[in-house]
Amino acid sequence: MNEHDSERIGGLLMADGMTPTESVEDARIVVLNTCAIRENADNRLYGNLGHLKPLKARNPDLRIVVAGCLAQKDQGEIQRRAPWVDVVIGTHALPNLLDLLRLAEEEGPVMDVREYTEIFPSALPAARTDAFRAWVSIAVGCDNACTFCIVPFVRGAQRSRPIGDILAEIQGLVRAGVVEVTLLGQNVNTYGRDLTVPGSSRRPRFAQLLREVNEVDGLRRIRFTSPHPHDFTPDVIDAMASSEAVCEHIHFPLQSGSDRVLKAMQRSYRRERYLDWLTRIREAIPGIAVSTDIIVGFPGETAEDFADTLEVVERARFDGAYTFQYSPRPGTRAASMDEQLPKEVVQERFERLVALQSAITAAANRAQVGRTFEVLVEGGGKRRGSTQARTRTNRIVHLRQELPPGTFVEARITDAGVHHLIGETVSTPATVAV
Ligand code: 5AD
Ligand code: SF4
Repeated sequence: MNEHDSERIGGLLMADGMTPTESVEDARIVVLNTCAIRENADNRLYGNLGHLKPLKARNPDLRIVVAGCLAQKDQGEIQRRAPWVDVVIGTHALPNLLDLLRLAEEEGPVMDVREYTEIFPSALPAARTDAFRAWVSIAVGCDNACTFCIVPFVRGAQRSRPIGDILAEIQGLVRAGVVEVTLLGQNVNTYGRDLTVPGSSRRPRFAQLLREVNEVDGLRRIRFTSPHPHDFTPDVIDAMASSEAVCEHIHFPLQSGSDRVLKAMQRSYRRERYLDWLTRIREAIPGIAVSTDIIVGFPGETAEDFADTLEVVERARFDGAYTFQYSPRPGTRAASMDEQLPKEVVQERFERLVALQSAITAAANRAQVGRTFEVLVEGGGKRRGSTQARTRTNRIVHLRQELPPGTFVEARITDAGVHHLIGETVSTPATVAV
């Protein structure tokens, strides 16, 4: 979500005639787009602002903008601590960026941390990194209250975007050469809960959105992130299974394998129910890859709770997992819970979890060797003469050949590691998307 906002910030500035620069010394405008979900976003922000201070002293024309979740959270605090910041712009105010910059030119430092999103970020111009794939925002904000999470504080209540707007954006993207979209929402399963279908009392549902996006001619791959195990419904599995363009991959955040910890996190599903969903998803969509998010060291997590997480990880056989050490976010319920765990305990558990999951990921990757997949070329690999591509199951494949980004090829997998597969093409590029 944060990266998608950065594309919009870049897009707005470029639409206003600015061009990107590699060097901060050459910049006329510097934007720090902050993400506060984990770690010390605040320390990093104030550190970076410290580095920018002498630059601003040398070049009074430099404009410094702080955007994103930390801007929303810290508000006036930012300009109190760093008076050389020209614009503080919260998560809901992106469409006003150019006006705020102009106002700052005339009147000095300004701030817009309004509490309500009027225009979806995706409706703004974007400086997309790739011409062939795009993020599309389907809802912003979150109505849940997971006790570790800062998102509801900085992104507000859920607001869904009407299906017609989403489809119009995707159709435009496809006309411009996009072949893959990733639908973005904090909790895609509750998409539409805050909307009505004009002329009826029905509400649009995520499964329906998936089916309609699947109908967009020329769109080859649909991904989405993230569903919430609590709000997951069988109609989403049906829509995934019957929509050709929806990729065989689901990111399904577990967070913890201990029922006690899930309860303390206010995640209202339990481990068996989670595992049951996995079985149903895998039965309906053979070969689907499942990835997850897991937090280690939530306040009060005991050795037994952690053992429960390891056990669920063994049983779930995730194809990949993002593992995080719990990070107290100021203002969240969990941050003020007793029994914050010592760093060493969290670190040791974290390393055990990473080792276990790496072994499972490596085994899942080895099982792909000898098989052939359609892969989408993303760009140059690390070495000259190599290319990075991706399977529908979201596995990275390195090819020893240079191919244009946006191309689909068939690749046979010859080798596998933890983080990627190695393959050779068995077909010439079929579709050039860009
Ligand atoms: N500490 C650690 N990880 C967190 N996440 C969210 N908040 C925290 C936190 N306070 C993780 C969750 C979420 C992912 C995007 O970030 O696993 O799914
Ligand atoms: Fe945060 Fe929970 Fe909402 Fe996800 S569902 S954004 S973890 S509050």
